Amino acid sequence: MPKRTQLIKPRIREILSRKLPSELVNLLPKHWVQLGDVLILPLREELLPYKKEIAKVYAEVLGVKTVLRKGRIGGEFRETNYEIIYGNDPVTIHKENGILYKFDASKVMFSPANVKERVRMASIANSNELVVDMFAGIGHLSLPIAKHCRARVIAIEKSPYTFQFLVENIELNRVQDRMTAYNIDNREFKGENIADRILMGYVVKTHEFIPKALEIAKNEAIIHYHNTIPERLMPREPFATFQKIANEQGYETELLESRILKRYAPGVWHVVLDVKVFKK
Ligand SMILES: C[S@@+](CC[C@H](N)C(=O)[O-])C[C@H]1O[C@@H](n2cnc3c(N)ncnc32)[C@H](O)[C@@H]1O
Repeated sequence: MPKRTQLIKPRIREILSRKLPSELVNLLPKHWVQLGDVLILPLREELLPYKKEIAKVYAEVLGVKTVLRKGRIGGEFRETNYEIIYGNDPVTIHKENGILYKFDASKVMFSPANVKERVRMASIANSNELVVDMFAGIGHLSLPIAKHCRARVIAIEKSPYTFQFLVENIELNRVQDRMTAYNIDNREFKGENIADRILMGYVVKTHEFIPKALEIAKNEAIIHYHNTIPERLMPREPFATFQKIANEQGYETELLESRILKRYAPGVWHVVLDVKVFKK
């Protein structure tokens, strides 16, 4: 039995071959991401004059309400800024591993490639733990902990726009009895020596936040430390930097696990470390 997408692609091609110059038909995207009822489509420059017609056909064949053109994620809040090329409502509810994630896919990132990490978080903690998520987003990594591990979670998110969805998601997933959200810069967070586990799901500059994470951590806490690392520095990094900063702050470290999540850019990987920290 062919997979659904194998039937869909020829259908899309067939419809669009009647609307597009033949040399462009081969450039039509063969891969896309569907999050709830929103589609994220990578479109090459050559196809842009036909973006509306193309998006309409993908939307109708795949049965989605809105299509976004995939672009670059950037800035402090890791915003997507994807252009709406079909429909007018980029807010969706995406269901994954029993969790409902509501968000605006044209502004807020939701990486399909991080799915393994979101699923791993669903069985990582004990119910008696206090977990602090320093870069909560819409609750990508901490909703699975609150929902499936039943641990207490403090979720910190700096972007006021993303924060609205985080609050909604806490209610949608009915974890408001154990998950609390703060709309602040995590460096302003006042808790010290309180967390059994800390999530640092951020990239590029995550090392700048290690001193704050250590302040929030209890002795023997586990920190899930994400960062983006050039391949030529691996496997020494990112642990060498984490260890150096922790030692300077008066902590010992033990590397429990290291995982590659995905390719971030050519020659650069998104890596997550599980590090246990001990106060000296
Ligand atoms: C790349 S998203 C990742 C979300 C989630 N942790 C994950 O790994 O899938 C990072 C989030 O951290 C937020 N953020 C960035 N700097 C922050 C800070 N200093 N304090 C709190 N949140 C911050 C951004 O607004 C964004 O929503």
